[in-house]
Amino acid sequence: MPPPIYSLGGKTFPVPAKLHSDNRGRLLNRLRGNKDVPSGAVILLEGGKEINQYCTDIELVFRQESFFMWTFGVELSGFFGAISVETGKTVLFAPKIPEAYIVYVGKLMSNEDLKERYAVDEVHFVEEMAEVLRAMQPSTLLTLKGVNTDSGLTSHEATFDSIDKFTVDNSILHPEISECRVFKSPGELEILRYVCQVSCEAHKEVMRKVRPGMQEYQLESTFKHHVYYHGGCRHVAYTCICASGINASVLDYGHAGAPNNRQILDGDICSFDMGGEYYCYASDITCAFPANGKFTADQRMIYEAVLKANRVVFKTMKPGVLWPDMHRLAERVLLEELTRHGLLKGDVDEMMKVYLGAVFMPHGLGHFMGCDTHDVGGYPKGVDRIQRPGIKNLRTARVLQAGMVITVEPGCYFIAETLEPALKNPDMMPFLCPDVLERFKNFGGVRIEDDVLVTQDGAENLSSGVPREIDEIEALMAEGR
Ligand code: GLY
Repeated sequence: MPPPIYSLGGKTFPVPAKLHSDNRGRLLNRLRGNKDVPSGAVILLEGGKEINQYCTDIELVFRQESFFMWTFGVELSGFFGAISVETGKTVLFAPKIPEAYIVYVGKLMSNEDLKERYAVDEVHFVEEMAEVLRAMQPSTLLTLKGVNTDSGLTSHEATFDSIDKFTVDNSILHPEISECRVFKSPGELEILRYVCQVSCEAHKEVMRKVRPGMQEYQLESTFKHHVYYHGGCRHVAYTCICASGINASVLDYGHAGAPNNRQILDGDICSFDMGGEYYCYASDITCAFPANGKFTADQRMIYEAVLKANRVVFKTMKPGVLWPDMHRLAERVLLEELTRHGLLKGDVDEMMKVYLGAVFMPHGLGHFMGCDTHDVGGYPKGVDRIQRPGIKNLRTARVLQAGMVITVEPGCYFIAETLEPALKNPDMMPFLCPDVLERFKNFGGVRIEDDVLVTQDGAENLSSGVPREIDEIEALMAEGR
Protein backbone atom coordinates (compact mmCIF):
# COMPACT_ATOMS: atom_id res chain seq x y z
CA MET A 1 0.00 0.00 0.00
CA PRO A 2 1.54 3.39 -0.92
CA PRO A 3 1.52 5.89 1.97
CA PRO A 4 -1.48 8.22 2.06
CA ILE A 5 -1.29 11.47 0.14
CA TYR A 6 -2.70 13.21 3.23
CA SER A 7 -3.46 12.58 6.87
CA LEU A 8 -2.73 14.54 10.02
CA GLY A 9 -1.76 11.31 11.76
CA GLY A 10 -3.54 9.89 14.78
CA LYS A 11 -7.03 8.78 13.86
CA THR A 12 -7.41 11.26 10.99
CA PHE A 13 -8.51 9.86 7.66
CA PRO A 14 -5.66 8.65 5.41
CA VAL A 15 -6.42 9.85 1.87
CA PRO A 16 -4.97 7.68 -0.93
CA ALA A 17 -3.42 9.35 -4.02
CA LYS A 18 -5.71 7.11 -6.08
CA LEU A 19 -8.56 9.50 -5.23
CA HIS A 20 -7.09 11.99 -7.70
CA SER A 21 -5.96 9.56 -10.39
CA ASP A 22 -9.60 8.38 -10.35
CA ASN A 23 -10.87 11.96 -10.59
CA ARG A 24 -8.47 12.69 -13.47
CA GLY A 25 -9.55 9.48 -15.18
CA ARG A 26 -13.21 10.52 -14.99
CA LEU A 27 -12.38 13.94 -16.38
CA LEU A 28 -10.32 12.49 -19.24
CA ASN A 29 -13.12 10.08 -20.14
CA ARG A 30 -15.53 12.98 -20.45
CA LEU A 31 -13.14 15.08 -22.49
CA ARG A 32 -12.27 12.18 -24.80
CA GLY A 33 -15.99 11.78 -25.48
CA ASN A 34 -16.42 15.48 -26.28
CA LYS A 35 -16.11 16.15 -30.02
CA ASP A 36 -15.20 19.80 -29.39
CA VAL A 37 -11.93 18.82 -27.71
CA PRO A 38 -9.14 19.13 -30.30
CA SER A 39 -6.83 16.13 -30.53
CA GLY A 40 -3.58 16.84 -28.72
CA ALA A 41 -5.24 19.09 -26.12
CA VAL A 42 -3.62 19.53 -22.71
CA ILE A 43 -5.49 20.63 -19.57
CA LEU A 44 -3.77 23.41 -17.64
CA LEU A 45 -4.95 24.36 -14.16
CA GLU A 46 -3.52 26.91 -11.76
CA GLY A 47 -3.77 26.23 -8.04
CA GLY A 48 -4.44 28.81 -5.34
CA LYS A 49 -1.95 31.36 -4.11
CA GLU A 50 -1.16 32.41 -0.55
CA ILE A 51 -3.25 35.37 0.55
CA ASN A 52 -1.82 37.98 2.88
CA GLN A 53 -3.84 39.84 5.47
CA TYR A 54 -4.31 43.07 3.50
CA CYS A 55 -0.92 44.79 3.07
CA THR A 56 0.78 42.93 5.90
CA ASP A 57 3.19 40.00 5.67
CA ILE A 58 0.82 37.82 7.73
CA GLU A 59 -0.34 34.94 5.54
CA LEU A 60 -3.84 33.53 6.02
CA VAL A 61 -3.94 29.76 6.49
CA PHE A 62 -3.86 28.45 2.94
CA ARG A 63 -6.81 26.50 1.56
CA GLN A 64 -6.39 25.03 -1.93
CA GLU A 65 -8.70 26.09 -4.76
CA SER A 66 -11.32 23.35 -5.12
CA PHE A 67 -10.95 22.45 -8.83
CA PHE A 68 -7.19 22.12 -8.40
CA MET A 69 -7.58 20.08 -5.22
CA TRP A 70 -10.12 17.77 -6.84
CA THR A 71 -7.78 17.16 -9.78
CA PHE A 72 -4.36 16.89 -8.16
CA GLY A 73 -4.76 16.66 -4.36
CA VAL A 74 -1.96 19.17 -3.86
CA GLU A 75 -2.72 21.11 -0.68
CA LEU A 76 0.22 23.52 -1.19
CA SER A 77 0.10 26.97 -2.77
CA GLY A 78 1.60 28.29 -5.98
CA PHE A 79 1.33 25.12 -8.11
CA PHE A 80 0.16 24.52 -11.67
CA GLY A 81 -0.81 21.16 -13.15
CA ALA A 82 -1.07 19.86 -16.72
CA ILE A 83 -2.65 16.69 -18.11
CA SER A 84 -2.51 15.42 -21.68
CA VAL A 85 -6.04 14.48 -22.70
CA GLU A 86 -4.78 11.78 -25.05
CA THR A 87 -2.13 10.04 -22.96
CA GLY A 88 -3.13 11.06 -19.43
CA LYS A 89 0.46 12.17 -18.74
CA THR A 90 0.27 14.34 -15.63
CA VAL A 91 2.80 17.02 -14.77
CA LEU A 92 2.93 19.29 -11.72
CA PHE A 93 4.76 22.60 -11.60
CA ALA A 94 5.99 23.60 -8.15
CA PRO A 95 7.02 27.07 -7.03
CA LYS A 96 10.76 27.42 -6.40
CA ILE A 97 11.21 28.52 -2.80
CA PRO A 98 14.36 30.61 -2.23
CA GLU A 99 16.97 28.87 -0.06
CA ALA A 100 16.81 31.75 2.41
CA TYR A 101 13.19 30.88 3.24
CA ILE A 102 14.12 27.46 4.53
CA VAL A 103 14.99 28.89 7.95
CA TYR A 104 11.39 30.15 8.14
CA VAL A 105 9.45 27.32 6.51
CA GLY A 106 11.71 24.33 7.10
CA LYS A 107 13.09 21.90 4.55
CA LEU A 108 10.76 21.46 1.61
CA MET A 109 9.98 18.43 -0.48
CA SER A 110 12.16 17.97 -3.56
CA ASN A 111 10.48 17.58 -6.95
CA GLU A 112 11.27 13.88 -6.73
CA ASP A 113 9.46 13.70 -3.35
CA LEU A 114 6.50 15.60 -4.82
CA LYS A 115 6.30 13.25 -7.81
CA GLU A 116 6.13 10.24 -5.53
CA ARG A 117 3.72 11.80 -3.05
CA TYR A 118 1.21 13.04 -5.61
CA ALA A 119 1.65 10.01 -7.90
CA VAL A 120 2.21 12.07 -11.07
CA ASP A 121 4.50 11.47 -14.03
CA GLU A 122 6.74 14.52 -13.69
CA VAL A 123 7.33 17.52 -11.45
CA HIS A 124 9.11 20.66 -12.65
CA PHE A 125 9.41 24.19 -11.38
CA VAL A 126 6.88 26.82 -12.43
CA GLU A 127 9.74 28.71 -14.09
CA GLU A 128 10.19 25.78 -16.48
CA MET A 129 6.51 25.53 -17.36
CA ALA A 130 6.56 27.15 -20.81
CA GLU A 131 9.40 24.92 -21.95
CA VAL A 132 7.90 21.72 -20.52
CA LEU A 133 4.50 22.51 -22.03
CA ARG A 134 6.09 23.22 -25.42
CA ALA A 135 7.71 19.78 -25.26
CA MET A 136 4.24 18.26 -24.69
CA GLN A 137 3.28 19.84 -28.06
CA PRO A 138 -0.28 20.72 -27.11
CA SER A 139 -2.60 21.60 -29.98
CA THR A 140 -4.57 23.59 -27.41
CA LEU A 141 -4.33 24.37 -23.73
CA LEU A 142 -7.67 23.81 -22.02
CA THR A 143 -7.91 26.36 -19.22
CA LEU A 144 -10.66 26.83 -16.67
CA LYS A 145 -13.01 29.76 -16.95
CA GLY A 146 -16.57 29.67 -15.75
CA VAL A 147 -19.07 31.36 -13.50
CA ASN A 148 -20.02 29.86 -10.16
CA THR A 149 -23.81 29.85 -10.27
CA ASP A 150 -24.11 30.46 -6.52
CA SER A 151 -21.69 33.36 -6.10
CA GLY A 152 -21.72 34.77 -9.63
CA LEU A 153 -17.92 34.89 -9.43
CA THR A 154 -15.65 33.62 -12.19
CA SER A 155 -13.00 30.95 -11.61
CA HIS A 156 -9.36 32.00 -11.93
CA GLU A 157 -7.97 30.96 -15.30
CA ALA A 158 -4.40 29.63 -15.50
CA THR A 159 -1.96 32.08 -16.96
CA PHE A 160 1.79 32.51 -17.28
CA ASP A 161 4.17 34.85 -19.09
CA SER A 162 4.29 33.23 -22.53
CA ILE A 163 0.80 31.71 -22.62
CA ASP A 164 0.09 33.91 -25.66
CA LYS A 165 2.43 31.62 -27.65
CA PHE A 166 -0.06 28.75 -27.18
CA THR A 167 -3.55 28.19 -28.52
CA VAL A 168 -5.91 28.39 -25.57
CA ASP A 169 -9.53 27.31 -25.17
CA ASN A 170 -11.18 28.42 -21.93
CA SER A 171 -14.75 27.35 -22.63
CA ILE A 172 -14.65 23.53 -22.78
CA LEU A 173 -13.13 22.59 -19.44
CA HIS A 174 -15.34 24.32 -16.87
CA PRO A 175 -18.65 22.60 -17.64
CA GLU A 176 -16.94 19.22 -18.03
CA ILE A 177 -14.97 19.30 -14.78
CA SER A 178 -17.95 20.77 -12.91
CA GLU A 179 -20.08 17.88 -14.13
CA CYS A 180 -17.47 15.39 -12.90
CA ARG A 181 -17.49 17.06 -9.48
CA VAL A 182 -21.26 16.63 -9.21
CA PHE A 183 -20.87 12.83 -9.07
CA LYS A 184 -18.86 11.58 -6.12
CA SER A 185 -16.53 8.62 -6.55
CA PRO A 186 -16.37 5.86 -3.89
CA GLY A 187 -13.10 7.44 -2.67
CA GLU A 188 -14.66 10.87 -2.32
CA LEU A 189 -17.64 9.38 -0.50
CA GLU A 190 -15.32 7.83 2.07
CA ILE A 191 -13.94 11.29 2.91
CA LEU A 192 -17.42 12.83 2.96
CA ARG A 193 -18.64 10.08 5.30
CA TYR A 194 -15.64 10.75 7.55
CA VAL A 195 -16.07 14.52 7.72
CA CYS A 196 -19.83 14.19 8.25
CA GLN A 197 -19.28 11.71 11.06
CA VAL A 198 -16.69 13.95 12.74
CA SER A 199 -19.08 16.91 12.42
CA CYS A 200 -21.99 14.89 13.85
CA GLU A 201 -19.91 14.05 16.91
CA ALA A 202 -19.03 17.73 17.30
CA HIS A 203 -22.72 18.71 17.12
CA LYS A 204 -23.47 16.12 19.80
CA GLU A 205 -20.77 17.59 22.01
CA VAL A 206 -22.31 21.05 21.53
CA MET A 207 -25.72 19.69 22.59
CA ARG A 208 -24.20 18.14 25.70
CA LYS A 209 -22.36 21.35 26.62
CA VAL A 210 -24.90 24.09 25.85
CA ARG A 211 -26.44 25.87 28.87
CA PRO A 212 -28.65 28.93 29.20
CA GLY A 213 -26.35 31.80 30.18
CA MET A 214 -23.56 30.85 27.74
CA GLN A 215 -22.63 33.06 24.81
CA GLU A 216 -23.36 31.62 21.38
CA TYR A 217 -19.70 31.89 20.32
CA GLN A 218 -18.70 29.50 23.11
CA LEU A 219 -20.57 26.74 21.30
CA GLU A 220 -18.92 27.74 18.02
CA SER A 221 -15.65 27.28 19.86
CA THR A 222 -16.75 23.86 21.20
CA PHE A 223 -17.63 22.73 17.67
CA LYS A 224 -14.41 23.96 16.09
CA HIS A 225 -12.31 22.42 18.84
CA HIS A 226 -14.05 19.08 18.44
CA VAL A 227 -13.72 18.81 14.65
CA TYR A 228 -10.08 19.88 14.76
CA TYR A 229 -8.95 18.02 17.88
CA HIS A 230 -10.75 14.79 17.10
CA GLY A 231 -11.01 14.91 13.32
CA GLY A 232 -8.08 16.97 12.04
CA CYS A 233 -10.40 19.53 10.43
CA ARG A 234 -8.24 22.64 10.36
CA HIS A 235 -10.97 24.52 8.54
CA VAL A 236 -14.70 24.61 8.91
CA ALA A 237 -16.66 24.49 5.66
CA TYR A 238 -18.37 27.89 6.23
CA THR A 239 -18.92 30.43 8.98
CA CYS A 240 -20.50 28.72 12.00
CA ILE A 241 -24.13 29.75 12.57
CA CYS A 242 -24.90 29.45 16.29
CA ALA A 243 -28.26 31.16 16.33
CA SER A 244 -30.32 31.16 19.53
CA GLY A 245 -33.75 32.60 20.28
CA ILE A 246 -34.91 35.15 17.74
CA ASN A 247 -31.53 34.92 15.96
CA ALA A 248 -32.58 31.47 14.79
CA SER A 249 -34.78 33.25 12.25
CA VAL A 250 -31.72 34.86 10.64
CA LEU A 251 -30.71 32.44 7.92
CA ASP A 252 -27.00 33.30 7.71
CA TYR A 253 -26.44 34.51 11.26
CA GLY A 254 -22.85 34.39 12.55
CA HIS A 255 -21.23 36.83 10.10
CA ALA A 256 -18.96 39.65 11.28
CA GLY A 257 -21.93 41.92 11.98
CA ALA A 258 -23.62 39.29 14.16
CA PRO A 259 -20.70 37.19 15.38
CA ASN A 260 -22.55 34.60 17.52
CA ASN A 261 -22.43 37.10 20.39
CA ARG A 262 -25.84 36.78 22.01
CA GLN A 263 -26.31 35.28 25.45
CA ILE A 264 -28.38 32.11 25.20
CA LEU A 265 -31.44 32.28 27.44
CA ASP A 266 -33.54 29.68 29.21
CA GLY A 267 -36.43 28.77 26.92
CA ASP A 268 -34.56 29.60 23.68
CA ILE A 269 -34.55 27.39 20.64
CA CYS A 270 -31.09 26.93 19.11
CA SER A 271 -30.57 26.34 15.39
CA PHE A 272 -26.88 25.59 14.94
CA ASP A 273 -25.57 25.16 11.41
CA MET A 274 -21.94 24.03 11.37
CA GLY A 275 -19.75 21.70 9.34
CA GLY A 276 -16.13 20.66 9.49
CA GLU A 277 -13.98 20.50 6.38
CA TYR A 278 -11.35 17.81 5.92
CA TYR A 279 -8.92 17.79 3.00
CA CYS A 280 -11.15 20.31 1.21
CA TYR A 281 -14.24 18.14 1.57
CA ALA A 282 -17.17 19.78 3.34
CA SER A 283 -19.95 18.81 5.66
CA ASP A 284 -22.97 21.01 6.32
CA ILE A 285 -25.26 20.02 9.18
CA THR A 286 -27.91 21.90 11.14
CA CYS A 287 -29.23 20.74 14.48
CA ALA A 288 -32.07 22.41 16.34
CA PHE A 289 -32.65 21.88 20.05
CA PRO A 290 -33.88 23.73 23.14
CA ALA A 291 -31.13 25.56 25.06
CA ASN A 292 -32.28 24.08 28.36
CA GLY A 293 -32.59 20.53 27.07
CA LYS A 294 -36.42 20.27 27.14
CA PHE A 295 -38.66 21.21 24.20
CA THR A 296 -41.65 23.46 24.99
CA ALA A 297 -44.97 22.55 23.37
CA ASP A 298 -44.47 25.18 20.62
CA GLN A 299 -40.86 24.17 20.00
CA ARG A 300 -41.94 20.55 19.75
CA MET A 301 -44.70 21.43 17.27
CA ILE A 302 -42.43 23.42 14.93
CA TYR A 303 -39.54 20.98 15.27
CA GLU A 304 -41.75 18.00 14.42
CA ALA A 305 -43.20 19.82 11.41
CA VAL A 306 -39.71 20.49 10.03
CA LEU A 307 -38.54 16.98 10.85
CA LYS A 308 -41.51 15.55 8.99
CA ALA A 309 -40.60 17.64 5.93
CA ASN A 310 -36.99 16.44 6.17
CA ARG A 311 -38.01 12.78 6.50
CA VAL A 312 -40.65 12.84 3.77
CA VAL A 313 -38.16 14.36 1.31
CA PHE A 314 -35.45 11.87 2.31
CA LYS A 315 -37.81 8.93 1.77
CA THR A 316 -38.91 10.26 -1.63
CA MET A 317 -35.42 10.99 -2.96
CA LYS A 318 -34.09 8.67 -5.64
CA PRO A 319 -32.70 8.92 -9.16
CA GLY A 320 -35.16 10.52 -11.56
CA VAL A 321 -36.77 12.82 -8.98
CA LEU A 322 -36.75 16.54 -9.82
CA TRP A 323 -35.16 18.56 -7.01
CA PRO A 324 -37.61 21.51 -7.28
CA ASP A 325 -40.39 18.95 -6.70
CA MET A 326 -38.69 18.04 -3.42
CA HIS A 327 -38.61 21.72 -2.47
CA ARG A 328 -42.35 21.98 -3.14
CA LEU A 329 -42.94 18.73 -1.23
CA ALA A 330 -41.13 20.13 1.83
CA GLU A 331 -43.21 23.32 1.61
CA ARG A 332 -46.42 21.30 1.37
CA VAL A 333 -45.61 19.19 4.44
CA LEU A 334 -44.74 22.33 6.37
CA LEU A 335 -47.96 24.10 5.39
CA GLU A 336 -50.03 21.00 6.25
CA GLU A 337 -48.44 20.81 9.69
CA LEU A 338 -48.83 24.55 10.38
CA THR A 339 -52.49 24.22 9.39
CA ARG A 340 -52.97 21.17 11.61
CA HIS A 341 -51.60 23.17 14.54
CA GLY A 342 -53.73 26.26 13.90
CA LEU A 343 -51.11 28.73 12.67
CA LEU A 344 -52.72 28.59 9.22
CA LYS A 345 -56.21 27.84 7.99
CA GLY A 346 -57.73 26.79 4.69
CA ASP A 347 -56.79 24.66 1.74
CA VAL A 348 -53.11 23.73 1.40
CA ASP A 349 -53.38 23.44 -2.42
CA GLU A 350 -54.54 27.05 -2.51
CA MET A 351 -51.67 28.08 -0.20
CA MET A 352 -49.22 26.37 -2.54
CA LYS A 353 -50.61 28.37 -5.48
CA VAL A 354 -49.68 31.65 -3.75
CA TYR A 355 -46.25 30.34 -2.61
CA LEU A 356 -47.10 30.72 1.06
CA GLY A 357 -44.31 28.23 1.88
CA ALA A 358 -41.69 30.86 1.03
CA VAL A 359 -42.95 33.04 3.89
CA PHE A 360 -41.86 30.39 6.39
CA MET A 361 -38.96 28.85 4.39
CA PRO A 362 -37.46 31.60 2.22
CA HIS A 363 -34.36 29.57 1.26
CA GLY A 364 -33.91 26.61 -1.06
CA LEU A 365 -34.37 23.06 0.24
CA GLY A 366 -30.74 22.08 -0.37
CA HIS A 367 -27.61 22.32 -2.47
CA PHE A 368 -24.88 20.06 -3.83
CA MET A 369 -22.00 19.51 -1.42
CA GLY A 370 -18.46 18.27 -2.01
CA CYS A 371 -15.17 20.16 -2.26
CA ASP A 372 -17.28 23.28 -1.77
CA THR A 373 -20.11 23.61 0.71
CA HIS A 374 -22.27 24.90 -2.11
CA ASP A 375 -20.77 22.62 -4.71
CA VAL A 376 -20.58 23.32 -8.42
CA GLY A 377 -22.81 22.02 -11.19
CA GLY A 378 -26.21 23.15 -9.94
CA TYR A 379 -27.22 24.90 -13.15
CA PRO A 380 -25.47 23.38 -16.17
CA LYS A 381 -26.49 24.46 -19.65
CA GLY A 382 -30.14 23.53 -20.18
CA VAL A 383 -31.16 23.75 -16.51
CA ASP A 384 -32.73 27.07 -15.61
CA ARG A 385 -33.55 28.69 -12.30
CA ILE A 386 -37.29 28.66 -11.65
CA GLN A 387 -38.24 32.26 -10.97
CA ARG A 388 -40.86 31.66 -8.28
CA PRO A 389 -40.84 32.72 -4.59
CA GLY A 390 -38.61 30.48 -2.49
CA ILE A 391 -37.87 28.01 -5.26
CA LYS A 392 -35.75 30.61 -7.10
CA ASN A 393 -33.27 30.33 -4.22
CA LEU A 394 -32.54 26.69 -4.99
CA ARG A 395 -28.88 26.20 -5.86
CA THR A 396 -29.87 23.47 -8.25
CA ALA A 397 -33.02 22.61 -10.21
CA ARG A 398 -31.68 19.32 -11.53
CA VAL A 399 -33.08 15.81 -11.71
CA LEU A 400 -31.45 13.67 -9.01
CA GLN A 401 -28.98 11.03 -10.15
CA ALA A 402 -27.03 8.39 -8.25
CA GLY A 403 -23.73 9.74 -6.90
CA MET A 404 -24.96 13.26 -6.22
CA VAL A 405 -24.53 14.55 -2.66
CA ILE A 406 -27.06 17.18 -1.69
CA THR A 407 -28.19 18.79 1.54
CA VAL A 408 -31.77 18.36 2.73
CA GLU A 409 -32.45 21.35 4.93
CA PRO A 410 -36.08 22.32 5.36
CA GLY A 411 -36.73 25.06 7.89
CA CYS A 412 -39.55 27.00 9.45
CA TYR A 413 -38.79 30.56 10.52
CA PHE A 414 -40.85 33.39 11.94
CA ILE A 415 -39.29 36.38 10.21
CA ALA A 416 -40.94 39.79 10.57
CA GLU A 417 -39.66 40.79 7.09
CA THR A 418 -41.58 37.95 5.39
CA LEU A 419 -44.56 37.61 7.76
CA GLU A 420 -45.62 41.26 7.95
CA PRO A 421 -45.96 41.70 4.16
CA ALA A 422 -47.80 38.34 4.02
CA LEU A 423 -50.29 39.55 6.64
CA LYS A 424 -51.08 42.48 4.34
CA ASN A 425 -51.09 40.47 1.12
CA PRO A 426 -54.69 39.83 0.01
CA ASP A 427 -53.68 36.49 -1.59
CA MET A 428 -52.06 35.22 1.60
CA MET A 429 -54.05 36.93 4.36
CA PRO A 430 -56.98 34.49 4.28
CA PHE A 431 -54.68 31.59 5.23
CA LEU A 432 -52.89 33.23 8.15
CA CYS A 433 -54.08 33.14 11.78
CA PRO A 434 -52.59 36.39 13.13
CA ASP A 435 -53.51 35.75 16.78
CA VAL A 436 -51.70 32.42 16.83
CA LEU A 437 -48.78 33.68 14.74
CA GLU A 438 -48.35 36.54 17.23
CA ARG A 439 -47.27 33.92 19.80
CA PHE A 440 -44.33 32.98 17.52
CA LYS A 441 -43.00 36.44 16.78
CA ASN A 442 -39.93 35.94 19.02
CA PHE A 443 -39.68 32.20 18.43
CA GLY A 444 -36.81 32.30 15.92
CA GLY A 445 -36.81 29.24 13.72
CA VAL A 446 -35.88 25.61 13.22
CA ARG A 447 -33.77 24.14 10.44
CA ILE A 448 -32.93 20.43 10.23
CA GLU A 449 -30.17 19.82 7.72
CA ASP A 450 -28.72 16.52 6.57
CA ASP A 451 -26.11 15.66 3.96
CA VAL A 452 -27.55 13.04 1.64
CA LEU A 453 -26.10 10.78 -1.05
CA VAL A 454 -28.44 9.80 -3.87
CA THR A 455 -27.99 6.04 -4.36
CA GLN A 456 -29.10 3.71 -7.17
CA ASP A 457 -32.50 3.18 -5.57
CA GLY A 458 -32.93 5.84 -2.91
CA ALA A 459 -30.74 7.85 -0.60
CA GLU A 460 -28.15 7.47 2.16
CA ASN A 461 -27.98 9.95 5.02
CA LEU A 462 -24.31 10.82 5.60
CA SER A 463 -25.19 12.80 8.73
CA SER A 464 -27.25 10.12 10.45
CA GLY A 465 -24.93 10.35 13.48
CA VAL A 466 -26.85 13.23 15.06
CA PRO A 467 -30.01 12.55 17.05
CA ARG A 468 -33.13 13.82 15.31
CA GLU A 469 -36.09 12.49 17.29
CA ILE A 470 -37.10 14.70 20.21
CA ASP A 471 -36.65 12.02 22.88
CA GLU A 472 -33.17 11.20 21.50
CA ILE A 473 -32.17 14.87 21.62
CA GLU A 474 -33.50 15.33 25.15
CA ALA A 475 -31.73 12.16 26.29
CA LEU A 476 -28.40 13.30 24.80
CA MET A 477 -28.73 16.76 26.31
CA ALA A 478 -29.56 15.25 29.70
CA GLU A 479 -26.25 13.31 29.56
CA GLY A 480 -24.29 16.50 29.84
CA ARG A 481 -26.35 17.99 32.68
N1 GLY B 1 -25.39 25.75 5.83
C1 GLY B 1 -24.68 26.90 5.42
C2 GLY B 1 -24.98 27.31 4.02
O1 GLY B 1 -25.52 26.51 3.27
O2 GLY B 1 -24.67 28.41 3.65
